[in-house]
Amino acid sequence: MNPFRIGVLASGGGSNLQSLIDHIRSGELNVRLEFVLSNNSTSAALEKARTFGAAAYHVSAFTEGGEPGVEKRLLALIKEHGIDLLVLAGYMKKMPSSVLRALPNRVVNIHPALLPAFGGEGFYGARIHEAVVREKCSYTGVTIHLVNEIYDEGQILWQVKVPVEPGASAEAVGRAVLAQEHACYWKVVRAFAEGVVQPGVVAGQPVDVGGLVQFMRGLQ
Ligand code: GRF
Repeated sequence: MNPFRIGVLASGGGSNLQSLIDHIRSGELNVRLEFVLSNNSTSAALEKARTFGAAAYHVSAFTEGGEPGVEKRLLALIKEHGIDLLVLAGYMKKMPSSVLRALPNRVVNIHPALLPAFGGEGFYGARIHEAVVREKCSYTGVTIHLVNEIYDEGQILWQVKVPVEPGASAEAVGRAVLAQEHACYWKVVRAFAEGVVQPGVVAGQPVDVGGLVQFMRGLQ
């Protein structure tokens, strides 16, 4: 059987990438990590990819002579590697429309809050958890969603709540959220690989399973 091929795009520390790699190594996630791409040459994700033995590409407006060059390279790599699913894991750049058209309903992103809360432009990294603490939220969470043309507005696939203790620091909230990201992103990728998520039929009514909003039937 053909392996299910994924490409991961990251800009920062790469802990979500590492979690995917760990689950591939353990045999729980049966996909082939074809490549990791970063716009940031110093992203730890590139080193993690090399250590694992996957192709690692630094692709930016600087290396490609502008954004159109980045778009062209990305499309070429998707084709060359036969990518089935593009996994954004802390990728700070907007996804070009041509890439979304090349992989319809096959680009996923993870966001460290319960969208639509704390989403959209300006909500990234520590700013999100600082806002959660400032607004005295009793919980926050993780959202995994399909990527569309608008920041953080694609179809939600999976959400999990993370409680916020009174007086918790933004750093502590961030650590708790990141731990949940690692616990669930690989399961969503596995759901794609196993065909649980079918492009076009992912939309549906959320089912609240004890604080867990599950959009994908059969995902555990
Ligand atoms: C994560 O919090 C993710 O939700 C957000 O960017 C962060 C990436 O962290 N989109 P890492 O690079 O995977 O450690």
